Amino acid sequence: MMTQKIGIGRAHSKIILIGEHSVVYGYSAIALPLKNIEVVCQVQASEAPLTINIDDPLSTAVLAALEFLDRSDQNISVKIKSNVPAKRGMGSSAAVAIAAIRAVFDYFDQPLSILDLEMLANQAEIIAHENPSGLDAKTCLSDTAIKFIRNLGFSEMAIDLGACLVIADTGIHGHTREAVAKVRELEEKALPYLHHLGNLANAIEVGILAKDLSVIGQAMNLAHQELERLGVSSPEANHLVQVAQSRGAMGAKMSGGGLGGCIIALCRNQEQADTLALELEKEGAVNTWIENL
Ligand code: MEV
Repeated sequence: MMTQKIGIGRAHSKIILIGEHSVVYGYSAIALPLKNIEVVCQVQASEAPLTINIDDPLSTAVLAALEFLDRSDQNISVKIKSNVPAKRGMGSSAAVAIAAIRAVFDYFDQPLSILDLEMLANQAEIIAHENPSGLDAKTCLSDTAIKFIRNLGFSEMAIDLGACLVIADTGIHGHTREAVAKVRELEEKALPYLHHLGNLANAIEVGILAKDLSVIGQAMNLAHQELERLGVSSPEANHLVQVAQSRGAMGAKMSGGGLGGCIIALCRNQEQADTLALELEKEGAVNTWIENL
């Protein structure tokens, strides 16, 4: 019996430390790869053509990859195994797109440059969530934390604070496309908030270089207020942020597109992070993760 060719692709998720939304308007953002939270995609031959759903990043990524390779006429089936919760600001759509593109290229034994991979992932993201800054795909392709500026590029950041970041999932689906549209509809009313978010990203970069947790934490708290003013937070995220802030976190904020999704809280050490993660779960978080910073 002939064994069937299987193409495999993997990608990890991400979390934004600072700069969601303001990054769309050219301010800098800092984001971290979550290397242990992964998506794996498998591609194999199929009898029937793939059903394409234009709102689904998996479909749009596979379509972009097939078109790039001039293989749109090939019947393939695609399976995803993911530890990344969808629609929580953890880059699920970018990670799914990257894993799927890698799997399609692997299936056809084609080389894939990092530039083509990022370009195709962003094409898929444009269809799935309209005018993406590129931050999600870039962070899901990076093994280190990055500072990212739209249309200018990115630089790797060494973060070595001896601290921990607790990520807590509200359990509510975030809506990046709607949140980005909401900010756009505010027009010039959004400008002071976006400008302040840009300054806070710079403050956090300075805090990281100086290894000053208070500077970083304070900027995170202020960033949450600005994101609330932009109308992209949610009552559930506000509650978890307030819990984290009142139980000793150095700082806390929502993360990602918002209108649901995750919050992040900066803790001095693992012990504080473990305790806070449990408290956040008691207060409604459906899942928590801890990242060393
Ligand atoms: C979504 O993860 C981050 C946003 O800034 C949108 C984007 O960068 O495209 C809200």
